[in-house]
Amino acid sequence: MPVSDWIDVEALPFETLLLLEDPHLHWLPRDWPGNELGVALRAHPSVGDFLRVRLRGAGGWLEALVEGAPEVDAATLRRCEVAVMARMADWLVYVVRPEAYDAQPFLRWSDEELLGLVDPRGKVVLDVGSGTGRLLEPLIADAATVFAVEPIAHLRGYLKTKFAAHAGKLFVIDGLLTEISLPDGTADVTVAGHVYGDEPEREIAELERVTRPGGIVILCPGTNDVDDDGHRALLAAGYAWSTFEEPGDGRKRKYWRTLGVPPERTVGVPPERTVGVPPERTVGAAPGPRPGGEPRP
Ligand SMILES: C[S@@+](CC[C@H](N)C(=O)[O-])C[C@H]1O[C@@H](n2cnc3c(N)ncnc32)[C@H](O)[C@@H]1O
Repeated sequence: MPVSDWIDVEALPFETLLLLEDPHLHWLPRDWPGNELGVALRAHPSVGDFLRVRLRGAGGWLEALVEGAPEVDAATLRRCEVAVMARMADWLVYVVRPEAYDAQPFLRWSDEELLGLVDPRGKVVLDVGSGTGRLLEPLIADAATVFAVEPIAHLRGYLKTKFAAHAGKLFVIDGLLTEISLPDGTADVTVAGHVYGDEPEREIAELERVTRPGGIVILCPGTNDVDDDGHRALLAAGYAWSTFEEPGDGRKRKYWRTLGVPPERTVGVPPERTVGVPPERTVGAAPGPRPGGEPRP
């Protein structure tokens, strides 16, 4: 499902961009296609000023866009505004209505994708790129301690509210896949979903740094069902993988590696099947029924 379907950007004023946070501005592509952004910023100088201030002197390219943009009629301006907001619909949903992301049908993949690999009971769990906390849903109740790393402040607030019942053991912190402010070997179980892949080798190295020897790193989902650079980097690092269905969004791949297990034991089996170390051997305790055993949604 395209990210532009996550939120109705046509209902948003262009000033919604004032809610963007520093990481978004850092991720703003300098080669923004077409002239829609320049046209929209020319008509909304306060938004342009905001972006330039937050870019801290690195916003010269925005000024050039505005200078090269034509003045347009109201209908064309609105088309440009909507086109810009549609391209950043994922960022906007996180800062305007995280609950709309949380309600996306594709997030309703089976909890067994995680619970079949790991028993969270008594574990230190770390979720990186936590978003609205989908991966924490099946893990948090039984974990001993949970760290949620998320670069967007608005989402960090959402996570605290969503998991308020577990406030005593949940620590929500700023950070990135490549920059996790936790000591080496912090987690027994490190998970990340829908976020891996911009800098595969650096991301794998950082996820493994914060995971203790014998602990497990799980990317669920890690990539689409394609042999891309992210997939190749994970295979080279010794990750096992399998595929699963994301409702309405096709097959995805999940990956896992128990640190300390030699890479050659986790690869070399035909890819469409679950490969490598059987899930029950990837963590200390065998996955069993959750205490209390209540069904998951
Ligand atoms: C598509 S959402 C996935 C959220 C959640 N893990 C899930 O599976 O539903 C991606 C999340 O990762 C965050 N994010 C994006 N780039 C990141 C990075 N380089 N490091 C850590 N988090 C990142 C975003 O702010 C967003 O909350």
